[in-house]
Amino acid sequence: MKTIDSYNFAGKKAVVRVDLNVPLNPDFSVRDFTRINAVIATVKKIVADGGSAILMSHMGRPKDGFEDKFSLKHVVAPLSEKLGLEVKFGGDPIGAEADEMAANLQPGEVMLLDNLRFYKEEKKGDEEFAKKLASRGDVWVMDAFGTAHRAHASTAVIAKFVDEKVSGYVMGREVENAKKITENPQRPFTAIMGGAKVSDKILLIERIMEVADNIIIGGGMAYTFFKAQGGTIGNSLCEEDKLDLALELIEKAKAKGVNLVLPVDSVCGDKFGEDAAVASYDSNAIADGYMGLDIGPKAAEEFSKIIKESKSILWNGPMGVSEWENFANGTTTVATAVAEATEAGAFSLIGGGDSAAAVNTLGFGDRVSYISTGGGAMLELMEGKVLPGIAALED
Ligand code: 3PG
Ligand code: MG
Repeated sequence: MKTIDSYNFAGKKAVVRVDLNVPLNPDFSVRDFTRINAVIATVKKIVADGGSAILMSHMGRPKDGFEDKFSLKHVVAPLSEKLGLEVKFGGDPIGAEADEMAANLQPGEVMLLDNLRFYKEEKKGDEEFAKKLASRGDVWVMDAFGTAHRAHASTAVIAKFVDEKVSGYVMGREVENAKKITENPQRPFTAIMGGAKVSDKILLIERIMEVADNIIIGGGMAYTFFKAQGGTIGNSLCEEDKLDLALELIEKAKAKGVNLVLPVDSVCGDKFGEDAAVASYDSNAIADGYMGLDIGPKAAEEFSKIIKESKSILWNGPMGVSEWENFANGTTTVATAVAEATEAGAFSLIGGGDSAAAVNTLGFGDRVSYISTGGGAMLELMEGKVLPGIAALED
């Protein structure tokens, strides 16, 4: 696989797939800059070499053609500002205006196409669409790690229609950091899993069991484990069809000598709402009408202790509904412990998506080792799957 460092872009036009699928506020300002910040180095390198860049991305999941709220025009100004140069907006990704702009693009210039998913061809991996995107450049740079688990026209299929292809800095960084966890991690290695569903994380839990010393489980998915062991969980989230699987995971952990830790207590609400009445229970004895919405204080303390003794930490998924003040303590406590462990020399990787958002919102972004730009993509990479966007870069 050719990497960006080994390529000289002088006089070349680069067609660059980035992931600028960033969350926007109601006024269309950017809410989280992680993905914008991530691509700056790649674009700067192309420009510094004397090349030009045609950037392309998707944003959200538009249903049927152009929709203003999914337009990448909203990221042109913040991207220009971070780059320190004016990014031209090409509009319709396969339109005549974009063709002309790309044809006239001068060394040192950067343009951005509008949302590729305004065309169904993108997700379908349509060859004509991919060919069209490829035709404007001399080289394809793949740097959309967050979308590398999709076999779409611009993330994978396009590779067939370019003479040269290289991976960008984001791709390199993400893969390198993932390896620090999946290959010979410093010990003890603790994986912290959260989020609503066990079913989303089964493969990761199974894979990580091969390397982890501790697996901490929080978030909504913990209650499936308590129910499976005969606990009473009130109205807490539960995947009834995953009860056997939860027991199997517990057994497997035992057999492998992995310390699988569930939250002994929970902060519960009498409804799924920010203003729910709050009560604490042991997680296997939750009162009727209540549901676990955060790990409890005893669990938070136990988790903290394990985390602070760790040398490698992987965190994927919040411990509770961290956007609501009454149910944020578990996630904040865990974030604090991860930050302190990192400051004491541990390597900490935060899987993208919800956990990255929580870590940034709570203000711990600068106190962990690495925050991934990929949610699903990082999950699949860690599960050991081959990502189509990476496979496409190989010969
Ligand atoms: C993401 O945010 O998950 C990536 O940008 C990929 O988007 P998708 O999940 O809609 O394919
Ligand atoms: Mg996704």
